[in-house]
Amino acid sequence: MVFNSSIRVVDAALMIDDLPLDAIVRELETPVYVYSLKRIQENYRRLKAAFEPVGARIHYSAKANSNAAILRTLIDEGAGIDAVSGGEIARALHAGAAAQDIVFAGVGKTVAEIAFAVERGIAWFNVENELELQHINDAASSMGTERVQVALRFNPEVSANTHPHISTGHGGAKFGLTAGAIGDALERPERYPCLNICGIHVHIGSQLGDSAPTTQALAKTKQLIGSFREIHTINLGGGLPVAYRHDQSIPAIENLVNEITPYLYGYQVLLEPGRAVIADAGILLATVLYVKIQGGKTFYIVDASMTELIRPALYGAQHEIVPLRQSDGERVLAQVVGPVCESTDVLAEDREMTPLKVGDQVAIMTAGAYGMAMASNYNSRMRPAEVVVAADGASWSVSRRRETVEDLLRLEN
Ligand code: LLP
Repeated sequence: MVFNSSIRVVDAALMIDDLPLDAIVRELETPVYVYSLKRIQENYRRLKAAFEPVGARIHYSAKANSNAAILRTLIDEGAGIDAVSGGEIARALHAGAAAQDIVFAGVGKTVAEIAFAVERGIAWFNVENELELQHINDAASSMGTERVQVALRFNPEVSANTHPHISTGHGGAKFGLTAGAIGDALERPERYPCLNICGIHVHIGSQLGDSAPTTQALAKTKQLIGSFREIHTINLGGGLPVAYRHDQSIPAIENLVNEITPYLYGYQVLLEPGRAVIADAGILLATVLYVKIQGGKTFYIVDASMTELIRPALYGAQHEIVPLRQSDGERVLAQVVGPVCESTDVLAEDREMTPLKVGDQVAIMTAGAYGMAMASNYNSRMRPAEVVVAADGASWSVSRRRETVEDLLRLEN
């Protein structure tokens, strides 16, 4: 079974690049995240090539996974970073990004975050509020900085055909500015003498399998900015979809690029993919702690939970679950659940799978994006270690160690 170019089953063993995962996990505790840097590079290069016709500059969306080794790998590949907080900017800089390669988005930037970003000289602010323009202008003015580059985030009032929790471009969403507010800001730029408002940003949601809302949003964007010649950059945001099942196919990026190219002539294009770069390069490994059969159901209670991977609980997301050692046996209908005291701590519901026993180890697939990045310490659980398999595919190292009880207690008086 082949999941992607880095993750596949060979002789009954689940492998990541050249390494059997059960050999890695023998030296570690579960739960643990494992990422293939080779697959991350490949994903990045594939996106870069697909968007070549529009010359897109790629800013990896660090919110998907801000592990330092991953950021470094992408920065070395030439990617910029899309950050959404002072913390993400700090992580990006720490990983070696140049400030001029960072864009800063977010619906509620604080004055302190804005000052930090202006002071560091980041490339772009993606602005979502008129008062925010004022704050950036004030920060730049008080620091005597050169004009700060701003893109206005447009809410095109287009519904992305995706899960409602990850849809951002519809009317009534908290994201972006209306066409009216953008027109107003562009008509009176003299109010912000320290800003150079020269970009438009549009991101209508995540996991966008249907390109129609994207082209619709772009058509509206073009209509809005057509008469403002100072706008020279269109930032398309992220949202490229990934397959969460190995037999699922997603639309070819090349088709999307063909569809959107007509809207982009004459503009510098930026892109902020997160999921498409990292999701299928990461897996979460877990061990079966208990098997419980009750109420007519088979429960596999594993040591990973919603605190490591909240996507199933939050979005009903379906991640495949694959044993590290394949075995035969009649498939059963199982509930794979975590130890957390929440009924929604279910990693897979009514999943047909080969039977598992206590001590078996499994991989929760396609967990690289919005996995560790959304992990929490709920139930005072320690966040897991993150392991990276080097780009040579043959060696691995712990990029971030598992938290300890001391880490949990460190900040309390
Ligand atoms: N740019 C902006 C302005 C965004 O809001 C996002 C994601 C991205 C780029 C990157 O989107 P991507 O290429 O990864 O789809 N936690 C959810 C996803 C939330 C996405 C938030 N914004 C999940 O696990 O599905």
